[in-house]
Amino acid sequence: MPDISSNSNNVSSQLIAWYDRHHRDLPWRVSPSMARNGITPDPYHVWLSEVMLQQTTVQAVKSYFRAFVERWPEVADLAAAPTEDVMAAWAGLGYYARARNLKACAETVVRDHGGIFPDTEEGLRTLPGVGDYTSAAIAAIAFDRPAAVMDGNVERVISRLYAIEAPLPGSKPLMREKVRDVTPQSRPGDFAQAMMDLGATICTPKRPACALCPLNSGCLALAHDDPERFPVKAPKKEKPVRVGAAFVAVDTEGRLLLRRRVESGLLGGMTEIPTTGWTARLDGETGVSAAPFPADWQPCGVITHVFTHFELRLTIFRAGPLTAPPQDHGFWVPVIELDGQALPTVMKKAISQAIPTAFSTRKG
Ligand code: ADE
Repeated sequence: MPDISSNSNNVSSQLIAWYDRHHRDLPWRVSPSMARNGITPDPYHVWLSEVMLQQTTVQAVKSYFRAFVERWPEVADLAAAPTEDVMAAWAGLGYYARARNLKACAETVVRDHGGIFPDTEEGLRTLPGVGDYTSAAIAAIAFDRPAAVMDGNVERVISRLYAIEAPLPGSKPLMREKVRDVTPQSRPGDFAQAMMDLGATICTPKRPACALCPLNSGCLALAHDDPERFPVKAPKKEKPVRVGAAFVAVDTEGRLLLRRRVESGLLGGMTEIPTTGWTARLDGETGVSAAPFPADWQPCGVITHVFTHFELRLTIFRAGPLTAPPQDHGFWVPVIELDGQALPTVMKKAISQAIPTAFSTRKG
């Protein structure tokens, strides 16, 4: 029978000991051995990685993180960069409001804080795009403040450790209280990262490796129940569906017609192919009658893309090669140069549907 008497000191010391041996080496991370050699985390790196990690997996973020810090080594470099360059470098990470906030945050740090990130949770919270999670994560990881850092991985670990029956998202305040209880005064940054690593590598959503877990002796879910059952979630509402049409026009010089989306709203300021509005009416505009100009538009199927609040089904049409393409509907870009454009994933999918080789022959 597991020893379920573990207290918060046990949790933190067992987890930190595990982290010392099993932490992941990540490009933005100062490992325990680096820290012993006097290396301290760069708040700019911590902030950048945390904003990126809200969006996608550690694996996917690595190359984006490296590209950003190579191109913009200091927060002041990012603050001075043209917005379009930052948006283009962000393309593929999704949720473009974050890229916009990234640039606004870098500008604020330079303008209002002399290029130095605030070193408290409250101070960080005042920066654009820095919410509860990010301010706690930066305060802990960059400045070793005992902030309660809670992301999806941490929620899973905590909900299992304490067998929390209340469903998410309502159980978050209770979980945060538990995280606060177990966060140590010593090495809180490593503790936060250890919780994340444990959730990502051992306390996984499916088939957790409980035999290898440093916290298994105190885990209530393991003792009394099925760890996979946690975190308990409220039943999901189905996402509404929106429909539309999008148009891939190519000319005889191998160029594709693109436009810039308006600054505000979803994918604001990003590049797109001409598209109708995206409507929740199932009889919405999905036909060739909505094309930006008359041409021999050929249907080439439907793509689906899931956004946070709705699912989009876009009917794709293709026209060309056009000999005398109209010049008043956007700008024409060679297909082989699409990588330099701030094209969101949904637009890459739409273009690939019409031109399957559009993104397959370029450098990684
Ligand atoms: N997920 C989000 N932030 C992370 C971090 N700093 N380390 C590992 N995984 C993370």
